[in-house]
Amino acid sequence: TRVALVFGGRSSEHGVSVVTAASVLAAIDRTRYEVVPIGINASGRWTLVADEPARMAITDGRMPDVDGVAEPGDGTVVLMGESAADGGRRHEIVRAEPGALPKALGEVDVVFPLLHGPYGEDGTIQGLLEMAGVPYVGCGVLASAVGMDKEYMKHVFTACGLPVGPYTVIRPREWERDREAVRRRVAELGWPVFVKPARAGSSMGISKVNGPEELDAAVEEARGHDPKVIVEAMLRGREIECGVLEFEDGPRASLPAEIEVLDGAGHEFYDFEAKYLQADEATRARIPAELDAEQTARIRDIAVRAFEALSCEGLARVDCFLLEDGRFVVNEINTMPGFTPTSMYPLMWRATGVEYPELIDRLIQAALR
Ligand code: DAL
Ligand code: MG
Repeated sequence: TRVALVFGGRSSEHGVSVVTAASVLAAIDRTRYEVVPIGINASGRWTLVADEPARMAITDGRMPDVDGVAEPGDGTVVLMGESAADGGRRHEIVRAEPGALPKALGEVDVVFPLLHGPYGEDGTIQGLLEMAGVPYVGCGVLASAVGMDKEYMKHVFTACGLPVGPYTVIRPREWERDREAVRRRVAELGWPVFVKPARAGSSMGISKVNGPEELDAAVEEARGHDPKVIVEAMLRGREIECGVLEFEDGPRASLPAEIEVLDGAGHEFYDFEAKYLQADEATRARIPAELDAEQTARIRDIAVRAFEALSCEGLARVDCFLLEDGRFVVNEINTMPGFTPTSMYPLMWRATGVEYPELIDRLIQAALR
């Protein structure tokens, strides 16, 4: 089976996606899968990249990028629809260079879009692949789009009876015309609040805001990622998450994990640096989380229900808070969770008995079913 791994992309999580792809390239079973690594650079150009995961790591606190591993002079990669040469479901890839005839790069059976954030985790590449008729790993257009947008995600969870925390949405027009109304609504949530771009990931553009005087700067910071901003009340409790993976008989939840952001490491919450750059010093992950059997069963049930609420396919990671009163609240779902060395999704599945190569195999097989 030939798999096109597509990664990088135009979102602020470009670097995270490259590190995710490095982990998948290193773990995928090469006796079963032939891999075509395709990088999308920050400006959106598709190129072939070197199959060298070692060059796609975080070095000296810097995230890697696609241009750093692009194969020189390789032109733009174009993914075509059904080639039907053998009547099967194979799909041709060509490489186009200005002034030259396109060069065939062969065919692929399935695309693995390892993209995080907008232009990849939000239904856009999923739509492109649907149009071309190419099978792909993970969630479809709707689940990806809803999972990327923290406003609509909460609407769907609420409609499906899943608990979410208090929040308010700031639309661009309102921020520009009636800031006082926004300030009053945010103050009703109580301080501190978290100000987030509605569509982003890896804590990009997120600020913890301790009082009204910090609000405007935080909203502007979030607006740098998305004109629509969401403000959430701070939830006091433990941060617990679960991976969901589609098996032959349906989705199952992994054992839950707990993330603790350590005091004194200079991080007020599980921010980008704590996730990727200082994960060892700044965070402690407990896999599995220290929960009793009833709590474990409850969060696994919530995780599968969240997956079903959005009609997810393949995989998702569901992030919750366990409140002091014993209730779980769903913070968010990620339809293409990170696969970096410090990412929880593959670690939770390993703790549940699914090793990394089997995890990738299951994802690809689910896409081909
Ligand atoms: N958005 C990052 C990649 C995650 O959820 O793991
Ligand atoms: Mg996220």
